[in-house]
Amino acid sequence: MDLFVTCANCLEPFLAQELADLGYPQAVTGFRGVHVRDVSFDAIYRINYCSRIASRVLMPLARFRCHDDRSLYLGAGKIDWMAYIPKGKTIAIDANVNHPRLRNSLYAAQIVKDAICDQLREKTGERPSVNTRDPDIQLNLYIQDEWAGLSFDTSGMPLHKRGYRQESVEAPMQETLAAALLTLAQYKAGDVLCDPCCGSGTILIEAAMMASQTPPGFLRNQWGFKSLPQHSPEAWLKVKNEADQRRILLPKHQFFGADINKQAIHACKVNLRAIGFQQSVEVVQCDIRDYTPPVTPNFILTNPPYGRRLDDVDHLRTLYRAIGDFMKRKAAKPARGFVFTGSFELSKEVGLAANRRHVLDNGGIEARLLEFDLY
Ligand SMILES: C[S@@+](CC[C@H](N)C(=O)[O-])C[C@H]1O[C@@H](n2cnc3c(N)ncnc32)[C@H](O)[C@@H]1O
Repeated sequence: MDLFVTCANCLEPFLAQELADLGYPQAVTGFRGVHVRDVSFDAIYRINYCSRIASRVLMPLARFRCHDDRSLYLGAGKIDWMAYIPKGKTIAIDANVNHPRLRNSLYAAQIVKDAICDQLREKTGERPSVNTRDPDIQLNLYIQDEWAGLSFDTSGMPLHKRGYRQESVEAPMQETLAAALLTLAQYKAGDVLCDPCCGSGTILIEAAMMASQTPPGFLRNQWGFKSLPQHSPEAWLKVKNEADQRRILLPKHQFFGADINKQAIHACKVNLRAIGFQQSVEVVQCDIRDYTPPVTPNFILTNPPYGRRLDDVDHLRTLYRAIGDFMKRKAAKPARGFVFTGSFELSKEVGLAANRRHVLDNGGIEARLLEFDLY
């Protein structure tokens, strides 16, 4: 079986490396994802449950030439949908279309939905309902260069929905991006990590999950693969139990965070409790200028606001200077510091020379992870 494991733009090489580490060295990077060829069904369980960087695990059902709406309807109608959509289940189709005549993704998804409904009504007398918010079965349509690919989304809900985010802040970092940044920064268990602008705590929680070897899917119950005819509850539990048994206790006094905003710290504490890390990750409401972590950190990774309006940018200059001061004065010697920001201008205010810059995409905005060697 072949799979296509999707991820955010620019994260493909990190995902390929992660999949190789999970036992799939044949992973080949593609556009916004990684192809994993010739794997057994267990790979669906393992990648969904253990990949920190993947967004979705897609199982291709068909690939066909697609010149227009009619060829899309006919191609979609060739799949035996009874095998994938049991009676009474709801569906949704996520479409990504780049086609000279089928310009509208929603329209293309509608054609596929019609093909599915017409086929099932003919065979069973019933048509499935569409539920775009919380479908039982999530399908994926991708059209590029007049080729259409239809896949079964074995994740169902996207994988960044780990299950610990009970409360949020204005600009939370996506969980998969936080995990990718920690991987890129070569965070390792045992580092004393500090995020002095921690918001809802995504960086701290993802790091703590890595350090305690908690699988990213640990809190999730809903999985798309549970609707597949090949799904075996025993095989799934075997993969899950193997991964769960590797969990270790999270050491204390290695994870510290602060945020000036009271609601952010409240959200962070709620989220920490949801994953059971409230004893080991210490967060306080505090301005970075007044914050001294209880243990001197040797790894700082933070994602300060970067403002889109000019007046915001001016106001934020002082914050970026404070981040530079924090790294100079409050970090261990030697230590490594990282700032993830979408503003090149503000990044210069940190006042330290970056040793490395990694360019990434943050929801369509070019962002950089700046790395500072502190000594
Ligand atoms: C982009 S958000 C961080 C989001 C976070 N990574 C998450 O996943 O939720 C930036 C955070 O910096 C905080 N912040 C702004 N100025 C601050 C200051 N002077 N000291 C500490 N935190 C500050 C904001 O309250 C906000 O929560």
